Amino acid sequence: MKRIPEPLIFTGKVLKILDQRKLPFKETYYEAKTYSDVKNAIKKMVLRGAPLIGIAGAYAVILGLRKKFNLQNFYQMKNELLSLRKTAYNLHYSLLRIENLIKNGAEFDEILREISKIFEEEKRRCELIGTNGKKLFSRFKRILTHCNTGKLATGGIGTALGVIYKTRKNIEHVFVTETRPYFQGARLTAYELSKTKIPFTIILDSESAFLMQQGEIDAVIVGADRITNDGYVANKIGTLSLAICAKEFNIPFYVAAPISTFDFNLINYHNIPIEQRESKEMKGWGKTKWIPENYKSLYFSFDITPPDLIRYFITDVGNFKPNEIEKIKRFDSLEKKNK
Ligand code: MRU
Repeated sequence: MKRIPEPLIFTGKVLKILDQRKLPFKETYYEAKTYSDVKNAIKKMVLRGAPLIGIAGAYAVILGLRKKFNLQNFYQMKNELLSLRKTAYNLHYSLLRIENLIKNGAEFDEILREISKIFEEEKRRCELIGTNGKKLFSRFKRILTHCNTGKLATGGIGTALGVIYKTRKNIEHVFVTETRPYFQGARLTAYELSKTKIPFTIILDSESAFLMQQGEIDAVIVGADRITNDGYVANKIGTLSLAICAKEFNIPFYVAAPISTFDFNLINYHNIPIEQRESKEMKGWGKTKWIPENYKSLYFSFDITPPDLIRYFITDVGNFKPNEIEKIKRFDSLEKKNK
């Protein structure tokens, strides 16, 4: 397996962010020296993926706190960051951990250590998700996945993609949806898989139902941006359609996510904030435009899949049916108690 560059490197002064907008053609780093640089990178999707957004957001805050270390400055940064990618729960998760430390009188270095800890934990969680997923996935040969859930989205081996990596010996083929309009699948997941020996094919987002109908897919696995306490999953737009199609063709549908993506305080999918992005992102890429600016369009970046379409949640603390979230919550409480 060829090496995938680190998506985030913190040097102590600078956060080097692998510029995912340029992949797979160029492996270059965007150097963020200030809070605003990181904020801008998150907004413009230089980096993305819920767990990685959580880690980058934490580094943004530490750069801001270096200039002005107080709770008021923290809250201002927190509010700004949360408004940028509002569906990704991992951002709340890591900012909450920092908030609690500041409230308890922690100093700068302690917060910095906590951020490294969150980063390391996310990597470990990915490994565990992969290992747990292997227990369910060793019987599947042809897998369909959506968006990008690998190292580029997590810093670790990934969530859904982590399961694919850990089961790679049995896998005959991975079907990768393009994931318009940012092409997380066609550019990023394909880039990651191209570094391995796992055979893969990029498909149109709209091609999935037909492939399922043709009997080409054994299982579908996706990641998550936020999971409610009653098992609703917010994930990249197109996930809901995949889950509905999978049900129609009797194909098991799995969601792989760390417990840091579970929003245990939230019930009812109506309460999930769904990010809507600027429609200009739909209308072109760089200088190339394929839809005129004045044509009206609508771009929800995420959708919500109900629990009855999900076979299992594959998490770092085990595999659970959607009606077993209380068990995952117990692990979360235990983890928090042992911290
Ligand atoms: O808009 P993105 O690229 O940040 O969306 C990413 C996804 O939807 C992923 O599936 C999700 O964050 C899980 S990544 C482990």
